Amino acid sequence: MKNPRQLIAFFFLLVGCAFEKKMNQKKEYYSEKFRPQFHFTPERNWMNDPNGMVFLDGEYHLFYQHYPDGNVWGPMHWGHAVSTDLVTWKHLPIALYPDRLGMIFSGSAVIDVNNTSGFGSSEKPAMVAIFTQHLMEGEKAGKHDFQTQGVAFSLDRGRTWKMYDSNPVIKNPGKHDFRDPKVFWHEPTKQWKMILAVKDHVELYGSPDLKNWNSLSSFGVDIGAHGGVWECPDLFEMNVKGSEQKKWVMLVSINPGAPNGGSGTQYFIGQFDGQQFLPENKDNLWIDYGKDNYAGVTWSNVNDGRRLFLGWMSNWQYATVVPTTVWRSAMTVSRELKLEETGAGLRVTSYPVKELKALRNDSTTTSNFLKNELSSSEEINLEGQAHEIELTILKSKNESTFEIQFTNGKQEFIGIGVDSLNRLYIDRTKSGGEFSKDFAGKHYGKLNSTSDIIKLRLLLDASSIEVFADDGAVMTELFFPTEQFNKVLVKSNKGVSIPELKIYTLNSIWKKEDN
Ligand code: FRU
Repeated sequence: MKNPRQLIAFFFLLVGCAFEKKMNQKKEYYSEKFRPQFHFTPERNWMNDPNGMVFLDGEYHLFYQHYPDGNVWGPMHWGHAVSTDLVTWKHLPIALYPDRLGMIFSGSAVIDVNNTSGFGSSEKPAMVAIFTQHLMEGEKAGKHDFQTQGVAFSLDRGRTWKMYDSNPVIKNPGKHDFRDPKVFWHEPTKQWKMILAVKDHVELYGSPDLKNWNSLSSFGVDIGAHGGVWECPDLFEMNVKGSEQKKWVMLVSINPGAPNGGSGTQYFIGQFDGQQFLPENKDNLWIDYGKDNYAGVTWSNVNDGRRLFLGWMSNWQYATVVPTTVWRSAMTVSRELKLEETGAGLRVTSYPVKELKALRNDSTTTSNFLKNELSSSEEINLEGQAHEIELTILKSKNESTFEIQFTNGKQEFIGIGVDSLNRLYIDRTKSGGEFSKDFAGKHYGKLNSTSDIIKLRLLLDASSIEVFADDGAVMTELFFPTEQFNKVLVKSNKGVSIPELKIYTLNSIWKKEDN
């Protein structure tokens, strides 16, 4: 190509091709089958628990259990993303890599405002991550002390990290399951506290500086659910809504042993005096009755009075075989937890964060979607993959039942309903799911109120649904139909009406240029 004109033409051809490739990439970004559009997922490969959730300088940090080299669980790193609104996320490079002490398992992060650790200064407080290190060689050799607690710190808003050179900060006393430290500052005793999961109970530790820890107490051997190992605990104080009272809430994930099988998160309400937790609740309580909300904990250093939570939207029964590629697993939407006196007693209730409303796009409202005398509604078409559906259900009799279904015209559907015993449920028996015997099923939860008026807010993404009742009850589940659901209808027995059904399409949070 000696001719300069030919050269110029060739140059423009190359630029054109590169541009087209970029445009295609943009179009394809986060558009694989089942890819959630408004839930956090890693760009590629495996993710499990949320870790190190902390707010600093306008950013909510989300670290997460991540295996960057494969789409199943493997040597754990801490992946990293940030958000300014708890809804849209920006991916950042991996924060923590395995080292001589092992992989980086679950843990938490705090801002050391008083520079108790000496890692930063009072002008520039360190972000300190506290996590479990799991030494595979130790486990393989049949030892019991392969899980230890370590710390690392960052002086640049979580962008780069340095391991503390005297790790571990808590050695293993010979206990096989000894992990997932959640740390918080306890002002009355001017100490850091750590809650750690130890097989069938939690242990509490105290520290002046995040480096030296002493044992305070243990809790849980003979209380709560014990169908599996205790993991990923959290402990925090909350106001009882509408009163001056304060109580402490302890979250403890358990696997297996959840009410609908496999993984789930129980909680306790009580008092904590800086040393010991004393429970007050009598019943076993669960944060979410759906099968797919595990290992959730709350953000630290949030100063607007909210207690913000997010969980891993999966279940160890089938997490590694759900049919997604090139990534595996999503998080729930960010939620606000409240402590409320309800018809069922004092409960931790869950609501989507208010920021989520910013994703609402077009909406359609159907009046009299279901009239009292009908047992089945018309079908409404759904376009796109991401929706929020609001509906009010009026029951004229106690035993009235209803079910809202999302279907695809291929006999596949996911149903959300309330049965004659006033139990909330999700039925995903016909929603796809041949990959595991534990997936399909009808799963029951509990409403907190017995009112005849039930308001539901449903967050429907490409492969998940979160059902929020206005009494604070929630169920979260996944689904994998052969074709996307594109219709909605309601079935009921007599005595139910749905005066209004509102459907919003939601914008996707993923755009290539932002990430
Ligand atoms: C919970 C869990 C944690 C552990 C991590 C390992 O899902 O088993 O206890 O730290 O996952 O990835």
